[in-house]
Amino acid sequence: MDNFWNEYPVMKSDLEEVTRIMKKSIKCKEKLVENAILELINSGGKLLRPAFLIIAARFGNFKEEEIYPLAAVLEMLHMATLVHDDIIDNSELRRGTETIQAKYGKGYAVYIGDFLFTRCFKILSEHSTLKGINVDSNVMSRICMGEIEQFSSKYNKKVSVRRYLKRISSKTAELFSLSFYSGAMGSGCDDKLCKRLSNIGHDIGMAFQIIDDILDYTSDETALGKSVGNDIKQGIYTLPLIYVLEKKNQRLSDILDKNTLDERDLREINNIVRDSGGIEKARELAEKYTNRAFKLIGTLPEGENTNILLRTTEKLLVRFY
Ligand code: IPE
Ligand code: IPE
Ligand code: MG
Ligand code: MG
Repeated sequence: MDNFWNEYPVMKSDLEEVTRIMKKSIKCKEKLVENAILELINSGGKLLRPAFLIIAARFGNFKEEEIYPLAAVLEMLHMATLVHDDIIDNSELRRGTETIQAKYGKGYAVYIGDFLFTRCFKILSEHSTLKGINVDSNVMSRICMGEIEQFSSKYNKKVSVRRYLKRISSKTAELFSLSFYSGAMGSGCDDKLCKRLSNIGHDIGMAFQIIDDILDYTSDETALGKSVGNDIKQGIYTLPLIYVLEKKNQRLSDILDKNTLDERDLREINNIVRDSGGIEKARELAEKYTNRAFKLIGTLPEGENTNILLRTTEKLLVRFY
């Protein structure tokens, strides 16, 4: 498991249980598929979504046997989107190892993502309610819509901040929001608390994706465990770049108009985005969402669980992977 939760032994042991459920549920007779998923699990994701689900569940009547399977579903849903996202983004590296699409080919990667989705629904059918399944499938549709919108907007220099925010709300924040909501619902929190926790998740998710998009400009492969500079290579224009485009930066616009971008172009784009304040401004917005989450967290019952949530939200803002 990744070191992200080392400070919190209880959370770590919860997540070990969740991982055990995931490993059990992906067993199948196609050993290539099973092993590819096992490698993805073992390469160590941060397990944020199941962890947030568990934190939210601790605000209600926490029952391990009901909550852990739901947490496993959230992580497997996330993994399925990553496997498919890596095909679309042509990514070579994920969690510090070769992506499934690079190692096994795009064909297997499509099936492996699909297989993960089917296992999610199997667990849900055993551990959730029809309402729960309905909520989960709505979120899955929205993630899909967000990814499709991003795909259709490739190389479009006119993408507005508003449209970007709508996109990341669908493709990322919705799943964070769902983690909180499922945990709260699953442990019998009242409607008001479920809604408040899901709003916290949404704000954390918005900040999270903005930071992820910044890291694609500022981090390096070893720290991040995935390819950097890949967004721009794939024609995906994210917040730091959108801010600079809004300022009508002619040089940037000219480079983006080229048919192909070589290493020098990529370096120049990166420099322009940094020097024109694109990174800073994006970071300010991530901070704004984080502050909004802090404010809502401040209304939750005081205690160790709320503290963990607060400190984790803080840590995500200053993370480097
Ligand atoms: C990556 O999510 C995808 C985004 C929404 C940016 P994470 O950074 O949570 O990925 P893992 O699970 O830790 O690898
Ligand atoms: C990930 O967005 C969102 C989903 C997987 C739905 P990114 O494309 O930014 O994620 P990374 O950078 O590949 O992890
Ligand atoms: Mg990607
Ligand atoms: Mg990214």
